Amino acid sequence: MLQFDLLATDPSSHARRGRLTLNHGVVQTPIFMPVGTYGTVKGVMPRSLTEMGAQIILGNTFHLWMRPGLDVVKGFGGLHAFEQWDKPILTDSGGFQVWSLGAMRKITEEGVHFRSPVNGDKLFMSPEVSMQIQTVLNSDIAMQLDECTPYETNGQRTTESEARKSMEMSRRWAARSKAEFERLENPNALFGIVQGGMYEHLRQESLDALVEMDFPGYAVGGVSVGEPKEEMLRIMAHTPHRLPANKPRYLMGVGTPEDLVEGVAQGVDMFDCVMPTRNARNGTIFTRYGDLKIRNARHREDHRPLDTTCTCHACAGTSGVAWDDGGREGFSRAYLHHLERCGEMLGPMLTTIHNLHYYLQLMQEMRDALDAGRFAQFRAQFKSDRARGV
Ligand code: GUN
Ligand code: ZN
Repeated sequence: MLQFDLLATDPSSHARRGRLTLNHGVVQTPIFMPVGTYGTVKGVMPRSLTEMGAQIILGNTFHLWMRPGLDVVKGFGGLHAFEQWDKPILTDSGGFQVWSLGAMRKITEEGVHFRSPVNGDKLFMSPEVSMQIQTVLNSDIAMQLDECTPYETNGQRTTESEARKSMEMSRRWAARSKAEFERLENPNALFGIVQGGMYEHLRQESLDALVEMDFPGYAVGGVSVGEPKEEMLRIMAHTPHRLPANKPRYLMGVGTPEDLVEGVAQGVDMFDCVMPTRNARNGTIFTRYGDLKIRNARHREDHRPLDTTCTCHACAGTSGVAWDDGGREGFSRAYLHHLERCGEMLGPMLTTIHNLHYYLQLMQEMRDALDAGRFAQFRAQFKSDRARGV
């Protein structure tokens, strides 16, 4: 089941405030979904996710199918019990991940033939197989199998006719995904995915066909696939607000804090991205006043936390009081710099908690601004804060 209630809209943009009710709980939108590819948000315990306000996390059909395998997850009655997360889960269909295998796969109308990157076995992923796996996982939101149209292949831009062929196949796979999802009597919700490459008229055609099929929610796929920023912004400005106003809209695989604010302004309700977690492990930290690299020698003796306005466990310890409000319990930049230099595992654990908290807090601030009718002011303040520097 899925119910979506629109709570407020912003007169200065396409931004909306909503509430999404799923089988494992309620999600306040707009929302960011931390990525938990293998059934774990890397380095973060579920109780920390709850503490930082995560409402829904991602899982990956492809990876979980490879390891631990469906028999194991089935024994637990689904992914929630296996990974000890009782709130909503969204699973990506595997389309994007199989596509990323490159030379190891062959895509046909029937589905994708590929070699397991784990043990070399010959495997086959089709819309039907993806729905069967996602039904066993019992994710609250399942995604259709699609083909993510690349921006370029070997330096050659995807042509309009290639983008059309790809989009049309994703459209047929959408219909097959939906038919199989219904045949399996999956009690959760299935989203369709808009494709069409960088061609707006193809995106419109894809969107129209998916809306005709009547999915409970829609995603915008095929962005953040190596295109220049202006191209991504053009697609973000084109597609989301054209989707049905009474259904949730999900922009897949995006992005930076600036992209999230822009996406919300364009009418997006849901985001996921590896950026906060992956960058944390590389020592790149997002803060209210810009980004910082913890490895930089200038942090060596800095007693301040990563973000002096942040109340996460890394920045404010167990007190939850930010440095700027007088809290002094957080881990210092000096200490995190030291952990990074020594390759200690607490380093990436704390930076991951901080980056995710920052993303989730940013979404909370957008929801609060939308509730209070001051989203335009929020946007202006966000831009000037981020430009200030840490
Ligand atoms: N993740 C990021 N982009 C995409 C996409 O286009 N399709 C799918 N299935 N997942 C994605
Ligand atoms: Zn923090």
